Amino acid sequence: MNLKGRSFLKLKDFTSEEIKYLIELSADLKAKKKKGAAHDVFKGKNIALIFEKTSTRTRCSFEVAAYDLGMHVTYLDPSGSQIGKKESIADTARVLGRMFDGIEYRGFGQEIVEELAKHAGVPVWNGLTNEFHPTQMIADMLTVQEKFGHLEGIKFVYMGDARYNMGNSLMVACAKLGMDFVACTSRKYFPEQPLVDYCKEVAAETGASITLTEDVQEGTKDADVIYTDVWVSMGEPDEVWEERIRELTPYQVNQAVMENAKESAVFMHCLPAFHDLKTTIGQQIHQKFGLTEMEVTDEVFEGSQSVVFDEAENRMHSIKAIMYATL
Ligand code: CP
Ligand code: NVA
Repeated sequence: MNLKGRSFLKLKDFTSEEIKYLIELSADLKAKKKKGAAHDVFKGKNIALIFEKTSTRTRCSFEVAAYDLGMHVTYLDPSGSQIGKKESIADTARVLGRMFDGIEYRGFGQEIVEELAKHAGVPVWNGLTNEFHPTQMIADMLTVQEKFGHLEGIKFVYMGDARYNMGNSLMVACAKLGMDFVACTSRKYFPEQPLVDYCKEVAAETGASITLTEDVQEGTKDADVIYTDVWVSMGEPDEVWEERIRELTPYQVNQAVMENAKESAVFMHCLPAFHDLKTTIGQQIHQKFGLTEMEVTDEVFEGSQSVVFDEAENRMHSIKAIMYATL
């Protein structure tokens, strides 16, 4: 498998075999790190991290993974560069491409990261756009594989805003990997039809299935994985909170949902999660709407079926694999 020189912008660009290879490579690099085996094979290389939105996991994963691989990192924060304001993406790409061996980009529209990759001349990695979050997918699927020993045939249920980066990406990942994907949410939050059609075509070849349902009982019945994400994503206006709370509360992941899933089911979340009042936004929402938890209850988040911190750790191993494979 040779992915050298390729950008990692969305899973649609990769075959099932290539995605499986990245999951295996993540597991190998994780084992190497646990054993303390050196893998600093990229000494002398430099990468740039561009973040137009905030981050904990993705930024730290890129930094730690880069250092483990022997590389140096430059971080450009949402306000600390000329990008977009004084310099176009195409010009930025051509400048950074002359200095760095690879570039990570987190921002708004998918077309921006695609444009960056078109002009950079070095691999570009998508660290999250409004439409897709592909590095998260390798970590999530590694986590599922670790928990169940396989991916094919897993019933993977996504609840909440399924038409944004996480819902879109998970549907594509499940389609490519022969899994049974269910978007269990209000119709308005179903992924867009062209992407559903694409995933159904892929599913016909891989043995996967794609189901969209508003019925929580039926959607979550005998699930292996129950997954959710925040109801309002980065970059969305505060005004949408009221509507999201009203429309998505029926799709909150709570104990009843977990009990309807298989006994062996796991709870997953890309994080950050609103499961208590220990955050500024959690407090603001509590004061305005009276909620003490949102997309997932604290009981489920802290419960024995929750694998969210294994998932978070796997971000680092899988981002390392993506850089290792493409540089
Ligand atoms: N899951 C995820 O991408 O987290 P961050 O926003 O902290 O990077
Ligand atoms: N949907 C979330 C994912 C965060 C990792 C967001 O875009 O804010």
